[in-house]
Amino acid sequence: MLLETLKSLAVSQSDRRILDLFDADPNRAQGFSASTGDLLFDYSKTQIDQDVRAALIQLCNEADLAGRREAMFTGQKINETEGRAVLHTALRNLDGGPVDVDGQDVMPDVLKTLQRMRVFAEEVRGGTIAGAGGSFTDVVNIGIGGSDLGPVMATHALAPYHDGPRLHYVSNVDGAHIADTLRQLDPSRTLVIVASKTFTTIETMTNARTARAWMTDGGGDPARQFAAVSSALDKTQVFGIPEERVFGFADWVGGRYSVWGPVGLPVMIAVGSNAFDAFLRGGQAMDLHFRSAEWVENVPVMLALTGVWHRQVLGYASRAVLPYDQRLLRLPAYFQQLEMESNGKSVAMDGSSLTVPSGPVVWGEPGTNGQHAFYQLIHQGTDVVSCEFMVAAEGHEPELAHHHRLLLANCLAQSEALMHGRSLDEARARMAATGLQGAELDRQARHRVFAGNRPSTTLIYPKLTPFVLGQIIALYEHRVFVEGVLLGINSFDQWGVELGKELATSLGPIVDGDESPNGKDGSTAALVAYVLTHRD
Ligand code: F6P
Repeated sequence: MLLETLKSLAVSQSDRRILDLFDADPNRAQGFSASTGDLLFDYSKTQIDQDVRAALIQLCNEADLAGRREAMFTGQKINETEGRAVLHTALRNLDGGPVDVDGQDVMPDVLKTLQRMRVFAEEVRGGTIAGAGGSFTDVVNIGIGGSDLGPVMATHALAPYHDGPRLHYVSNVDGAHIADTLRQLDPSRTLVIVASKTFTTIETMTNARTARAWMTDGGGDPARQFAAVSSALDKTQVFGIPEERVFGFADWVGGRYSVWGPVGLPVMIAVGSNAFDAFLRGGQAMDLHFRSAEWVENVPVMLALTGVWHRQVLGYASRAVLPYDQRLLRLPAYFQQLEMESNGKSVAMDGSSLTVPSGPVVWGEPGTNGQHAFYQLIHQGTDVVSCEFMVAAEGHEPELAHHHRLLLANCLAQSEALMHGRSLDEARARMAATGLQGAELDRQARHRVFAGNRPSTTLIYPKLTPFVLGQIIALYEHRVFVEGVLLGINSFDQWGVELGKELATSLGPIVDGDESPNGKDGSTAALVAYVLTHRD
């Protein structure tokens, strides 16, 4: 119902330009932004006005967002299709009180595991825990999806703080990934962390067995040089990883929300436990803000409402994440899992079909590289893409401050260009200045018109420190949660990935040539036949 109100508001303002809003309200930038700590979220370069914002906020009340938020933080089983609580926030609840699940406070276990991680990480870094050939020079994390994307993203992001052993990530079951990674390493001085919540994921287990054989053959000692991160402690034992090297977590931590706990172990080994603590504190600061700020001042809520406005009301099918920060190069991939695995659903919590579009396609690349690739479509394509820019006020390289100024200028220029555009008159004047006339002037000018009026938001932060990274990741987690609540879906299951896994298992013996493809569709059978006739 409220969405209908929002849609009619959208129609009523369809002739209005975003720039008109700035003309009408000189304080629009301040009025249509929200902040927490030093983080500023500016959504003024969108069509959201007072009426739209009021209606969007009303959506939160209608969906009982406050009640759902409390249910999440207090350990109620809001992941109803799997019968689980959703408590990744407990992993960063460093100074908070007890958090009960089924009447049991989970915090003592969380803090105990965190302390074990700190000790292990510092001993690996200091060389007290070492391999058969001496202190560890390299760490290989084997995991996929939520057991890979978070630590990969954070390792890149925190490169200026990386003073531990070199880190490598192997996720793909494609043998090329592990072969190319291990080729450069010394098997007697490499620590392998097998990260898998279930410890059954075929890609991860296949890679883990290959790494174990490589280590044994190369003079390493898997009994000393393997660690595991998992919630399936029975399975880690069967694999042969000693209990003191296994870091467990409960089923109330979803894979894509797990970087805060043992899944973050490689990051802690890289940057040290103090920097990792700062990351957790950033996440916790965002939790406190999300839990207490009024909706209009609440950064995750306003980020989510901007998302709903663009996707569910205006119908923009995709959302570009555009970090002007090279070290956030894996952030778009991380957000793809976070947002699309969480909110890519077409069934509501009660089993009914969703009557509004699900979450958008999320994609992106760091600026300025994206500018020289896909920004053409963002500026002049026929579809509107909502753009989410991110940038730091300063970089980590004071000696290269002029680079950062150029980076910032580019980031700001893009959101300005998207909003302002360039009119036909302006384009004609430019062409006329080159000496063109008549029909050719018109033709050339039309190619140089930018429609403008294209929405974007900007998240700006002082510097990409561990604390700020924690704030940003928790901000987006809560954004996904809020959007899921407003859509009435379960953001914490992922049944959509199961079918492909099941079929891959059944196709294994067929691709091996041990079973016939009979019963498979014609295309699949023909592709199998091609494989069987084209390999040695
Ligand atoms: O692809 C689905 C998924 O279950 C993700 O949600 C998860 O992050 C990933 O697989 C890896 O799972 P696991 O940590 O159990 O190996």
